Amino acid sequence: MNEILIDNTAGVMTITLNRVEKKNSLTGAMYAVMADALDQAQADAAVRAVVFQGHETIFSAGNDIGDFLNAPAATNESPVFRFLRGISTFPKPVIAAVCGPAVGIGTTMLFHCDLVYAGDNAAFSMPFVNLGLCPEAASSYLAPQLMGYGRAAEALLLGEPFLAEAALEMGLISRIVPPAEVAALAQRQAQKLASKPLSSLIETKRLMKKGQASVVAERMLEEGVSFGRMLREPAAREAFTAFMEKRRPDFSTI
Ligand code: COA
Repeated sequence: MNEILIDNTAGVMTITLNRVEKKNSLTGAMYAVMADALDQAQADAAVRAVVFQGHETIFSAGNDIGDFLNAPAATNESPVFRFLRGISTFPKPVIAAVCGPAVGIGTTMLFHCDLVYAGDNAAFSMPFVNLGLCPEAASSYLAPQLMGYGRAAEALLLGEPFLAEAALEMGLISRIVPPAEVAALAQRQAQKLASKPLSSLIETKRLMKKGQASVVAERMLEEGVSFGRMLREPAAREAFTAFMEKRRPDFSTI
C-alpha cells in the first residue's frame, strides 16, 4: 500500500497521507515522495494548485519516531529538509485539509500552506521540547509572528495543543467545518483556484510572502542545524526510546 497517494485531476495535485495505522506519521521515504511531487507540481504548468490531506480522524502524528531513533536526518539534503524547502518556497497555491491531530511537522507544514480547512476535531501541537528537540520549518519565527509570543510560548515551550477555534482566531486556518466535509471543501476551493490565471496567483503569493521569504529560509537552516544535532543527544534519545517502549520519558538526569 502506498503511504503517500498522488492524484492529478483538473489542474489540482492532491497529496494524501495514507499511513493511518501509524497515525500518518511521516518516514524519510514519505518525505522523499512528497518532495518529488512538489518538484513535479512546480515544473508542470498543468498543475495549478496542490492539496494536502490526511484522514478524517488524523492529519499526521508528525515525524515517525522510529525513524528519528534509527535514521535521523543527517544533512540538509535529507528528505525532510527537501520537503520543507519545497513547501516553504512553493510558488503556486497550497491548500491543506486537516482533521484530527496535527502533531509536529503536521502543524508546522501548515504555516506554509495558503489555505487550511479544518474539521472541528482538529488539534494542533508542536511538542518539540517534550521530545528533546527544537522547532523546525521556521516555526520558531512564524509561530510567534502569527500567534503572538505568549501563545507561541505555550505551544512551543510547554508543547500544549490548541484546537481549531484558536487556530481560526489566530489565522492559521481559514475555516472550520465538520470533518466529513473538509476534503470536499478543500477540493472545491482548489478547483476555484485552478480556474484563475496562474500567473496572477503566483505573483500574488510571491508578493504576500516577500516580507518573510528570506528570514524563513535563513531560520529553517539555523533550526535544521540545531534539530539535526539534538536528534542525537541524550534527551531526544530518551524521549524516542520511551515512546517506542510505551512509557513516560525520564529526563531527571539529562
Ligand atoms: N511515529 C511512529 N509511530 C507512531 C507515531 C509517530 N510519530 N505516532 C503514532 N504512532 C503509532 C503508535 O506507536 C501506534 O503503533 P502500534 O499500533 O504499532 O502500537 C499507532 O501509531 C497508533 O498510535 P496511538 O498512540 O495508539 O494512537 P492514539 O490515537 O492513542 O494517539 C496521537 C494518537 C497522534 C495523539 C499519538 O499517537 C501521538 O502522540 N503520537 C506521537 C506524536 C509525536 O510526538 N510526534 C512527533 C512530533 S515531532
